[in-house]
Amino acid sequence: MFTRTLALCAFAALSLAVGTAAAQDTVKVGLILPMTGPFASTGRQIDGAVKLWIQQNGTTVAGKKIEVILKDDAGNADTTRRLAQELVVNDKVAVLAGFGLTPLALATVPIATQAKVPMIVMAAATSSITEQSPFVVRAGFTLPQVTSPLANWAWQAGIKKVVTLVTDFGPGIDAETTFKNRFTALGGQVPAELRVPLRNPDFAPFLQRVRDASPDAVFVFVPSGVGAIFMKQFAERGLDKSGIKLIGTGDVTDDDILNGMGDVALGVITSFHYSAAHDSPANKAYVAAYKKLNGVRPNFMSMGGYDGMRVLYKALEATKGNTSGEALVNAMKGQAFESPRGPVTIDPATRDPIQNVYMRKVERVGGELWNVEFATQPAVKDPMHK
Ligand code: PHB
Repeated sequence: MFTRTLALCAFAALSLAVGTAAAQDTVKVGLILPMTGPFASTGRQIDGAVKLWIQQNGTTVAGKKIEVILKDDAGNADTTRRLAQELVVNDKVAVLAGFGLTPLALATVPIATQAKVPMIVMAAATSSITEQSPFVVRAGFTLPQVTSPLANWAWQAGIKKVVTLVTDFGPGIDAETTFKNRFTALGGQVPAELRVPLRNPDFAPFLQRVRDASPDAVFVFVPSGVGAIFMKQFAERGLDKSGIKLIGTGDVTDDDILNGMGDVALGVITSFHYSAAHDSPANKAYVAAYKKLNGVRPNFMSMGGYDGMRVLYKALEATKGNTSGEALVNAMKGQAFESPRGPVTIDPATRDPIQNVYMRKVERVGGELWNVEFATQPAVKDPMHK
């Protein structure tokens, strides 16, 4: 009996030791995404990119095993907050990542800050998110960053009067403010600023108001996934034939759904940090590998997921596997790399990416619609963070 107890104790101690060693050797990443609901396309794009990164780079970094724990928040901020809490407290994740919409990122910030867990924002693009906590690092883009070059382009293209039409939440307000400030500073006019609800948007009444104002162009921001319904209503109301140009950030001609939009999208001018048509060997390889693994064309959301993983892997290499939140964030600051989108630097001061912003036009190439880049503004910083 005595020996048996001893043996059991020894076994228990051993499994405890093995358990601890395994826990220390594993770096858990809590990936929270909208995998269902109206913004599921964002979740699917990012999840597909994380899987591609892992397929290409393995699951071992600096001697540690990376374990990604994917959770679906369905685009609901209360769920995001609860999942983040559980991932930190129960799963003891070293890093939180994902965040398909600004409100979902903002709901998680207090948890990341309190737990000193880095939060890699792959999608949400409201400028102020990185200001909320020193533990937030952004891998995607910000709306002010991509909007400002478009205001310059519009003025240079002879456009004088623009109505803005944006989805009524953080990134939309950032886009509206940036466009208006820049375009009016150059001498342009913005006679109306229209805001459409985030949930179940009906664009028809807003498009009527655009028509009534008869501007040279309408500037649009809608979140990823919503562009198809916007374009449909734009065509149904005959705006594509009204002589009012459609311009916007690249969210509206999202590569994921662009091909399904049809001819109404042809000629639409947008500014953005990523196009699946970006002409570089790195991007051609990325698009081919992404399609092969996931069966769809990658969009800009995928890019935030892919480079978010890169930033994490490079940080772990730099810290030699040390997962303290401060050490990891410090190792993310200032990272500079060649991404499929072009050169990217994580601004050490703001923890936002500094990157090229491209002007693009929707064209049919090889039977498919693409955002074809025609001009580049290099190394753009978020103008709200200057
Ligand atoms: C955001 O919620 O910050 C967001 C969502 C979709 C986009 C851009 C920004 O396309």
